Amino acid sequence: MPDSVLRVLTCGSVDDGKSTLIGRLLFECGTIPDDVMAALECDSKRFGTVDGATDYALLVDGLEAEREQGVTIDVAYRFFETPARRFILADTPGHQQYTRNMVTGASTADLAVLLIDARKGILPQTRRHAAIASLLGIKQVVLAVNKMDLMDFQESVFAAIRHDFRALLGKLEFDRITPIPICARDGDNVTSASMRMPWYTGSSLLRALEAATPMSAQAGPFRMPVQYVSRPDHTFRGYAGTIATGRVQPGDRLVNSAARTEATVSRIVTMNGDLAEANAGDPVTLVLDREIDISRGDVLAAGPAPAAADGLDAWVVWMDETPLFRGRAYLLMLGSRTVVATVTDITTRLDMETLEEVSVRELALNEIGRVSISLTHPVVCELYEANRELGGFILIDRLTRGTVGAGMVTAIRTRNADIVWHRLDVDKAARSALKGQKPAVLWFTGLSGAGKSTIANLVEKRLHALGHHTMILDGDNVRHGLNRDLGFSEADRVENIRRIAEVSRLFVEAGLIVIVSFISPYRAERMLARDRVGGDEFLEIFVDTPVEECRRRDPKGLYLKADAGQIRNFTGVDAPYEEPLDPEIRLRTLEGTPDVLADEVVASLRTRGIIA
Ligand code: ADX
Repeated sequence: MPDSVLRVLTCGSVDDGKSTLIGRLLFECGTIPDDVMAALECDSKRFGTVDGATDYALLVDGLEAEREQGVTIDVAYRFFETPARRFILADTPGHQQYTRNMVTGASTADLAVLLIDARKGILPQTRRHAAIASLLGIKQVVLAVNKMDLMDFQESVFAAIRHDFRALLGKLEFDRITPIPICARDGDNVTSASMRMPWYTGSSLLRALEAATPMSAQAGPFRMPVQYVSRPDHTFRGYAGTIATGRVQPGDRLVNSAARTEATVSRIVTMNGDLAEANAGDPVTLVLDREIDISRGDVLAAGPAPAAADGLDAWVVWMDETPLFRGRAYLLMLGSRTVVATVTDITTRLDMETLEEVSVRELALNEIGRVSISLTHPVVCELYEANRELGGFILIDRLTRGTVGAGMVTAIRTRNADIVWHRLDVDKAARSALKGQKPAVLWFTGLSGAGKSTIANLVEKRLHALGHHTMILDGDNVRHGLNRDLGFSEADRVENIRRIAEVSRLFVEAGLIVIVSFISPYRAERMLARDRVGGDEFLEIFVDTPVEECRRRDPKGLYLKADAGQIRNFTGVDAPYEEPLDPEIRLRTLEGTPDVLADEVVASLRTRGIIA
């Protein structure tokens, strides 16, 4: 069996003839069993679109239907081989909304086949595919110009498309581009030279695939994210994971990137016995010659070890209906580590028409942009261009747990030693001790007109009367100063609450009981505030008033204005409010007066031990 493997990504839509092309490649390389072939000939006569001749598209479309039943798999991998090498072909659905699938397929591919319909030439979709392939580090491209038969096999048609594609390239980083004119239906230039295009002297598609260079993960320095520490009993301790890049042998010296401690490999343990050597892609358990501090999520590496990043810059492909906003926090998964990550900046988006970068503040579904991210815990990573495994990550929504983005690291930041959080002699404990209280954040959330400020004000008065040191932050007031630059778009509200979360945290450090009263309509930012402050000092208080009641009260006449279209993005009218799922305190304002509810809050602070 040939041992070299080439991973190929096919990009194009069914209309471009992608199924036919793949079907033909599989057929001509003898991958199709005889009985399937017989059934195919029979189906071709009945449903085929090529006048009774074999319709190869039916073959692939048949597999596709099978695949649709298993909803979770959105990239189909097909295998075939020639005497020269084996091929793994990633086939992704061609529709534009399926960027996610393309990213999945592209992140491991060595080469992309961009399929083009000779009648249509370069389409926006072609540019999108080329841009994603380039960003995901694919360096080799075959431009398969299909349906040449429908353009009378004219060389000028092919030449024009080749020319148009080259014009795009200045902006993309490919090392090798091979344009090939084909007719997938009849097999011209697919596996052998076409008699009908004598003007084309280049190689067939299959030859081009055989001549391509696989990007070897073996070549890089050794890296293995630790999946778990295996300690079946006190005599054995091993570090299990899948080797991301490079190779390892007993006797190799490795560094734990996170802790910068070193040890030597003494054994490589697998299910089938010990190995003398292991390579990228192999799942192994490494035993070291001494005990060093290593935990899940650390990376074992051959020196020089990769850095642990506190922040990074990256290209992000956004895959969620809700746009990506600056200031919002997500889970970032890289290697075997998952941490909370905040998007601190969104600078540009790649325009798919021009492939220029345009400046933006948010990223919508299927858009690709440059972002900066700060991480709550350091993550060992590398630049994507140096290491796809340790330079690629996904972003996960903290509430739905769905994958919302895929990223490629372009720059790594390690925390500036000058701005580490200083441990001061007078700390939070000292400050709150002097005030004789426990610091806390009482985070009031609810619709405009729900009664947040009224109740918050009464709570502060009661605490004050009891001799507590408090501070109140109120939406309407803070928006006159610190947050004067922010409006009510989703992006601005995210930033509004992010700043308030940070300010609350500082006041908690000052030992105060902080009373926060903001609509804070999104669960994600309230969650961020809770994280920043710390669970046991954070109380979410939901001022629960039905929107009809808020409208009826309408203390500032804002619902009236929103209905009249004079105010836009008004919460409860044309902007959403995400109710707390599990607040510490829920105040139903229809059932009690503000005074009663304020007493309820104070009583709850007592039972929770925040006040005496
Ligand atoms: S938040 O959504 O970003 O948390 P915040 O609590 O700061 O909002 O501000 C809400 C206050 O701003 C409301 O009580 C109201 O007085 C005023 N306001 C003005 N425009 C709007 C709007 N479009 N939506 C909600 N509140 C608005």
